[in-house]
Amino acid sequence: MKVAIIGGTGDQGFGLALRFVQAGLDVIIGSRDIKKAENTVNIIKNMIKGDEMQIQGMTNEEAAEEGDLLILTVPLQAQVVSLRSIKDHSEGKILVDATVPLETCLGGKPNRYVDLWEGSAAERSAEILKDKDVKIVSAFNNISSASLINIKEEVKCDCLISGDHEDAKKEVMKLAEKIPGVRSIDCGPLENARIIEKITPLLINLNIRNRIKLAGIRITGL
Ligand SMILES: NC(=O)c1ccc[n+]([C@@H]2O[C@H](COP(=O)([O-])OP(=O)(O)OC[C@H]3O[C@@H](n4cnc5c(N)ncnc54)[C@H](OP(=O)(O)O)[C@@H]3O)[C@@H](O)[C@H]2O)c1
Repeated sequence: MKVAIIGGTGDQGFGLALRFVQAGLDVIIGSRDIKKAENTVNIIKNMIKGDEMQIQGMTNEEAAEEGDLLILTVPLQAQVVSLRSIKDHSEGKILVDATVPLETCLGGKPNRYVDLWEGSAAERSAEILKDKDVKIVSAFNNISSASLINIKEEVKCDCLISGDHEDAKKEVMKLAEKIPGVRSIDCGPLENARIIEKITPLLINLNIRNRIKLAGIRITGL
């Protein structure tokens, strides 16, 4: 399975790509700029040495066409434009949305949530791609890029996953557990992304208050 990361040159996409390449998956870094994508690929190749590594850089459109499972890692202000650019290349695929609606998209604070008309960023993705039979799954919203990029250590965070397509959700749960330390939690239908996305500004708040970068969340008692 090829995992294509749309906006894979940013912190979150880069971190996920590192972990998935490390796990032996076939990864595509997508970008608006092919040179930027190739540069990110070279950085990953330098960080993870290995002959069998499967990673390529492409434009977002090519990445969506080539990938079997797509992961969207762009800031909220880029969500709509990025999805429109890949819409015609995403028919029938799984799209994992990691977008968190933070006030930074309006020039505000990173520890404040912005309410969206659709209820959550993931539901907004579902709305934009509704005529393309894309299976939207919300995941990776609460896992910090700092912990993903710190490849010498396990990620100490559960992955809270929601979606309306059970098979797609199971696929993404398996994918998330390729990251050492991550446990996937099935959090029910996509509308629960409204709750999950709101945890991230809280974690950012805790990072700021404690001068750390690795705050995460664990669900106990399951
Ligand atoms: N960073 C984290 O720790 C973290 C944790 C959990 C969730 N998230 C969520 O994951 C998403 C990505 O976060 P990030 O920190 O990786 O973001 P980022 O570094 O600011 O941006 C990611 C990529 O998005 C593309 N992009 C940026 N602005 C754009 C625009 N105006 N139009 C089109 N594309 C644009 C860029 O790719 P190209 O220039 O190569 O096209 C950029 O490298 C966000 O929604 C964030 O809330 C982040």
